[in-house]
Formats: sequence, structure tokens, C-alpha cells
Amino acid sequence: MDAETSQPAAPAETADLSAAPSRRSVIGWAGAGLALGAAAAGSVAAATMKQDAGTAPAVDSTADIPFYGDHQAGIATPVQDRLHFAAFDVTTTDRAVLVRMLKDWTKAAAAMTGGREVGAGATGGLPEAPPDDTGEALGLPASRLTLTIGFGPTLFEKDGVDRFGLKARRPDALIDLPKFRGDRLEDARVGGDICIQACADDPQVAVHAIRNLARIGMGVVNVRWSQLGFGKTSSTTPEAQTPRNLMGFKDGTHNIAGSDTAKLADHVWVAPGEGPEWMTGGSYLVSRRIRMTVEAWDRTSLKEQEDVFGRTKGEGAPYGKQKERDTPDLSAMPQDSHVRLAHPDSNNGLMILRRGFSFTDGTDGLGRLDAGLFFLAYQRDTRKAFVPLQTKLAANDKLNEYITHVGSGHFACPPGIRKPGEWWGQALFG
Ligand code: HEM
Repeated sequence: MDAETSQPAAPAETADLSAAPSRRSVIGWAGAGLALGAAAAGSVAAATMKQDAGTAPAVDSTADIPFYGDHQAGIATPVQDRLHFAAFDVTTTDRAVLVRMLKDWTKAAAAMTGGREVGAGATGGLPEAPPDDTGEALGLPASRLTLTIGFGPTLFEKDGVDRFGLKARRPDALIDLPKFRGDRLEDARVGGDICIQACADDPQVAVHAIRNLARIGMGVVNVRWSQLGFGKTSSTTPEAQTPRNLMGFKDGTHNIAGSDTAKLADHVWVAPGEGPEWMTGGSYLVSRRIRMTVEAWDRTSLKEQEDVFGRTKGEGAPYGKQKERDTPDLSAMPQDSHVRLAHPDSNNGLMILRRGFSFTDGTDGLGRLDAGLFFLAYQRDTRKAFVPLQTKLAANDKLNEYITHVGSGHFACPPGIRKPGEWWGQALFG
């Protein structure tokens, strides 16, 4: 199907906005006006937090997150509860067809993140034609949906072929990830030409978004692999309660806060002059599907579990300290503990922005749960962040007794779309 046919004849998204039906008559307090008005992703935290009387700010889980901004939403945005991540293979060889799809995707993404239906909606089109929107999010608010796009190494060059004339535009930082010690990667869960990270506080909204993008992309892209996630395992909002991963430990205690513009600039956003212009303000995403051998973990003593991380299970306090947020004394932690090895003080100040989610995908066929952590990390240069860190962890981390990396992806996520009419990948393809 040509993606063009799935869209109404609207020249720009401004036209779309007035035409596109809202999924419900009253949308979240943040509202569509705010969605368009708040330009910078840095304003996202403020735009989606509301203050509970006398307590830490709580996230309004119905709100819409601004789609337009200097940086893509879904990176510094306060982490939502649910994830649907999809990696796509581009099947067309026609650059113009791919560009057309990216334009259509952008329009659809702007609509869905604003709580609106795609195109003419689930019921607003011609009765003789398939609807523009699949409809399962009808009546649901935007639910803080963010859609974040990334381009994988194979979009630029695959099997030595410069498929879309992009080879010279591949950033040096977008390396083919090396094989790390202990990796048990499954081909069906590795790579991808394009990825979309859909995060929302309602799983139906996240799934709806990926499904509609896949539908629009029919004949242009195929879903290569996808991952559902729940119970965010990393917080980027230090003022909120830290979530727990499936090992029962607080995860995200020491992470880059979405509101910490200095740390984001230092560790997450690509600076001007670093690689190709089209990536300035963007970030590199590493995804790793990490299985946990929960059966073995659950038979491990509490002391051993705490030794694995160097933090207590209940409070999440670093060894030798009382409170979760106390400054760690790394020397009080076992040498092979995860936190001691991963802490910036052990790595010349290196930090990554972790944004992972838990997963359980049935069984592995051997009577065990197929469960773990879908690790997502954003960084300014993967060669200087994930690669050295994971090389070290893979060789030394006590946690390795209980985990296995089975899936992997690496994607260049461009900066944000700044205004209606721009499209995902415009600076790359332009
Ligand atoms: C299933 C796999 C993993 C689990 C269960 C896990 C769990 C945890 C936990 C519980 C913490 C302590 C709380 C916190 O500060 O967030 C932590 C910290 C951290 N983890 Fe992981 N992690 C996993 C994989 C990874 C990987 C693959 C990396 C990077 C290559 C990584 C990097 C970090 C970093 C940088 C910290 C912060 C250390 C600090 O600054 O104190 N983790 N992780």
C-alpha cells in the first residue's frame, strides 16, 4: 500500500491539526495549545508535572508531551510506565518512497502524541476505504505518549551497499557494536534500519502508535523485532519514587535527571561539530534485551543479592550509608558489584541516561520465565560511553551470573522536529 493513500490531502501538519479528530473531547490539562506552545523538550518536565498537596510533584499520566522541540521527546522526558519498541527493516530500495513514508510517519506521530487520530481518523474517512486510524485508542487521552525515532547503521550501508545514498552521512559514532563477553545475541532480536521507541502511561496507546506506524509503512518497512515493556526500570525524575526492576532493586537512583540541562549537555546531546550536522542536538541510543535468570536469582540469599549491586534491597542505600540518595562510598562495596563498577567515579566521570523497562514474554520453553530488563541508554557518543562501560561490566560484573544479553540495537536519534511541516530525517535526507 502506498502510504500516501492513507493520509488526507493536507499539505502541512497545520492543516492536519485542525482536521484531525481529537480522540476525546476533553484532553489532559496540559492541552493541545500547550503541546504546540512549549517548544523545548526541557519544558517537558514542567509541563507534565503537577504538584500534589505538600508532596513531591506527580506526573499527570493523561497529559500530552510536546512533539516539537530542540530535542526529541522520549529521552529527557520523565519516564512513562509502558514501552512498545519496534525495530524496522526498510524493504523498499526507492529513496523517494522511504522519504514519503517518513513524512507520513511524522504527521501521524504529531497527531498521536497530541491525542488525536491519524489522518481522517478511525471512522471519518470514506466507508469504502480502510480507516486511516486503527481505532483502539479512541476515547483514550494522549497518556504522555512520546515517539522517538532512530536510524541504525544498516540504513547507511548494508552488506557493502550504499542503499539510499546516505553512506557518507553515517556518523562515526554510529558504530557496529562490538561483541561483548558473554553476549548470546539472537539474530531475530538484533539490529534494525529504523527504530521507534513508543512510551506512554497507557500500554494501549503505545501499542496503537507502533501499530499505526507499521500500517502506514506497509510495503516500505517491515517490523524486524519489537519489545513490550512495563514498570520503567529507570527514573529520570529524582524527586519521584525510584521504580524497582524485576530483581526487586530500586533502579535509576543515580541517573541523569531529565531536568539537569548541564548533565544532558555533557553526556546526552550531540554538540555542534561532533560528527555530521544532522545529528547536532540528537543522541545515540543503545538497546539491549537482557534476560534475567530469575529462578536462580530467587534462590539467592538477600546478602548475595545486595552484594551484587552494592546497595541494600529495601532502602536502596549504598553500602555503609543509610539512605538511597546518600553519596556512595565505593570502597565499601564489593569490588565486583554492579554499582561500584558502573559509577562515574570508577569511569572518569562517564554517565549515560538509562531509560529501561522490565519485560516478561512468556516462557523460554524450558520451564523458565523469559523475563528481564529491556535496557535503553542514551548518550552523546556510544564509543565513549556504552562501549567502554559494557566492556568493563561484561568482564567483571557479579551481576553477570544472573543475566544474559540476548538482543541489541544501536541507533542515531536526530534532534527534535521544531515545527509543523518538518519531518523525521529531513536533515539527513535533505
Ligand atoms: C539486567 C541488567 C541490569 C540490571 C538489573 C541493573 C540494575 C542496576 C541497579 C539496581 C542499579 C543501582 C541503582 C541506580 O543507581 O540506578 C544500577 C546502576 C547503574 N547501572 Fe545497571 N543494571 C543492569 C544493566 C546495566 C548495563 C548493561 C549498564 C551499562 C552498560 C548499566 C549501567 C548502570 C549505571 C551507569 C548505573 C549507575 C551507577 C552509579 O552511578 O551509581 N546497567 N543498575
